[in-house]
Amino acid sequence: MKSIIGQPATRQDAKLKVTGAAKYSAEFALPNMAYAVLVTAPVGRGTIRNLDVAQARGTTGVLAVISYQDKPQLRALDPKAMAKAQAQTGEGLLPFQSPDIVYNGQAIAVVVADTYERARYAATLVKADIDALPPSTTLRDTPHIDAPASIHGSPAQIMRGTPDAAYANAPRKIEATYHTTNEHHNPIEPHANVAHFHDGGLTVYQATQGTSPPQATLAYLFELAPEKVRVINYFTGGGFGCKGTGAWGHDIACAIASRAVGRPVKLALMRQQMFAGVGHRGETEMAMQVGTDADGKMEMLAMKTLTQGHQNQPQFFETAGLMSNVMYPAPNYEMAHRVARNNIAPPTYMRAPGEAPGAFGLECAMDEMAAELGMDPLKFRMQNYAGVDPDSGLPFSSKQLQKCYERGAQLIGWDARQQQPRQTREGRYLIGYGMASATYPANRQPASANCRIYGDGRAVSACNGVDIGTGAYTVFRQVAADTLGFPLYKVVFELGDSKLPTAPQAGGSWLTASVAPAVVEACEMAMRDVAQMATKDRRSPLFGRKLDEIKFQNGLAVLKSDSGKGEALSAIVKRSGKPFVEACCRAETMMSAKNNEGLKQKTKAPCAIIDPDAEVDKDDAKYSFHSFGAQFCKLRVDEEMGTIRLLDWAVVMDAGRILNHRTARSQILGGVGFGIGMALSEETLYDPNTARPYIRNLADYHVAVNGDVPRIQVEFVEVPDPHINSVGCRGIGEIGIVGVPAAIANAVFNATGKRLRDLPLTPDKFV
Ligand code: MOS
Repeated sequence: MKSIIGQPATRQDAKLKVTGAAKYSAEFALPNMAYAVLVTAPVGRGTIRNLDVAQARGTTGVLAVISYQDKPQLRALDPKAMAKAQAQTGEGLLPFQSPDIVYNGQAIAVVVADTYERARYAATLVKADIDALPPSTTLRDTPHIDAPASIHGSPAQIMRGTPDAAYANAPRKIEATYHTTNEHHNPIEPHANVAHFHDGGLTVYQATQGTSPPQATLAYLFELAPEKVRVINYFTGGGFGCKGTGAWGHDIACAIASRAVGRPVKLALMRQQMFAGVGHRGETEMAMQVGTDADGKMEMLAMKTLTQGHQNQPQFFETAGLMSNVMYPAPNYEMAHRVARNNIAPPTYMRAPGEAPGAFGLECAMDEMAAELGMDPLKFRMQNYAGVDPDSGLPFSSKQLQKCYERGAQLIGWDARQQQPRQTREGRYLIGYGMASATYPANRQPASANCRIYGDGRAVSACNGVDIGTGAYTVFRQVAADTLGFPLYKVVFELGDSKLPTAPQAGGSWLTASVAPAVVEACEMAMRDVAQMATKDRRSPLFGRKLDEIKFQNGLAVLKSDSGKGEALSAIVKRSGKPFVEACCRAETMMSAKNNEGLKQKTKAPCAIIDPDAEVDKDDAKYSFHSFGAQFCKLRVDEEMGTIRLLDWAVVMDAGRILNHRTARSQILGGVGFGIGMALSEETLYDPNTARPYIRNLADYHVAVNGDVPRIQVEFVEVPDPHINSVGCRGIGEIGIVGVPAAIANAVFNATGKRLRDLPLTPDKFV
């Protein structure tokens, strides 16, 4: 039978979404529900001298106005205790605990009323008397710049050899500084929450990328046992990282409001409120140096980054230098990260955090170096290809980047590119070709999944992860159906409820690679359990047989020696009188399995903790795990107008085995579109006097629209990764954006001879 894995199956949730039946967080309406609206700080830095809430409180329908004056009870933020509880807040700040203001847009009060309109009106009546201090809003106007020691446990500062001396002595070299701007995720679905304290517990419908982090975080903050907190989120209208934390201030405020008024409360952010307090991509500056020998062999590489951070959220910053540590084998190397902590709201993960800005610096610098050498930039990269991880010296688990380069060049027609800029004209336009590499770490987290085989021929498999629009429902359904040998339409995959077996959040491009092996194992366990029942059932043709005499095919359990002898799994379940047979499995990751940590962890009964990848050598001490890809574009520039129009795109990705060609292609289309927005138009600007984002709606914040996006040719190399997991798949949610702005800027150089090093590439940059 042809594998269901890889097929371009349509989305399990497609019909629900196109008919409007898919319910998003803001659409849940509970009986007796009240509505909350935030009052936010109008300055970037200061202290509230007095907050006048009397008028708001006296307004018809208002149930509560809560601020620092009330200091609602919350467990204090204690990094150690939170790490243990796996709790995390997006802004590193608890709402309404103090009169201090640390960013513009910070929640300073929440107004709760019986209708949304009344709450929104009353919120306008809250008067804050503030001692404001001048805020810092750039990378340069803050005195608080530090050099973090580590990034997710690995070093944030690396020095190999003598990069300064190597640069001074390099026969050929370039040096340039690149800049990316503040950006916002702007998912179509703004953040929303419906919180309900009841029966000693808390249920929330939260727009989130995973149900476990909010469950752990709200349990921690409200001092509840985690099992007393239930988080539901069946559908997400885009996450891109901004819904990838346990709780933002508004999530906490919503639960505070429900506790205070004793009713379910809904709090939905307005689009304007999406520009502070729910994270963004911080501004990043990258100083690059590349030095080669006379033939273009790289002798040194330095990438020194400065990026925006916030004092309240020390852990997160754009790890823009990391990509330089993976791509090119430079014997003399420096990677440095500096973080400028200013009064813009705390930044957070945004699609390919680190690599998205990092690739702009790194891959433009490669293009500049190639131009300096008079060499084709593709040839320059091939010549400096990292056969092993340049930092650790470990082999890559699987790296097919060379094939990506070759195929991408074919698809875009790279042969037509002229090495010298300004050689190709079409009427008033200059034509250019550009390319860039992409990479993203291939991570995994421990994940559980279950499988139920029913007597009527159906199966249901589930975990508590969230489909943020990626196609998670669909690919896990395929993995389950394929493992069970059931037709796709007989299998349903469930997600989005913290009660289901624990899975990681959809972030870090790790959901698929983490959950898929757990689904395989849970389904296989369920099949074995069902077959076991048959061996003990006199009515079964498998009666008296041993499990190892039995194999599974097309939803049947049959004898290995005689595949004509056996019966359908569903028939065995049906005869047993049980409604279903269920198995649950927790798949370990490289680290947790190696340290045997996973085996000590508690799981939800009846989940078995095993290593479903036992046959896979996934030892992370032996391999370096990354996805790779190549971006190619053709564009035209109108020099008089300073405008860029993309004409064609080709992207080839190496992400291991592809589970669904339709949803995988969509992920890459979305990533490239996201990158085109980053390259050409997306930018959040701030008023230096108040730190207020004055770009704060989708009319002023320009995401790429259809008119900006050309044909995008997407291909995958599709060599299964033999080491990452038993399925062979790596993640693809983020890598699609990586390298897009660099490919565009490099093509602009090829067209015009002008280097643009400051995103976005708006017409003024041509002046
Ligand atoms: Mo991703 S930026 O880790 O949701």
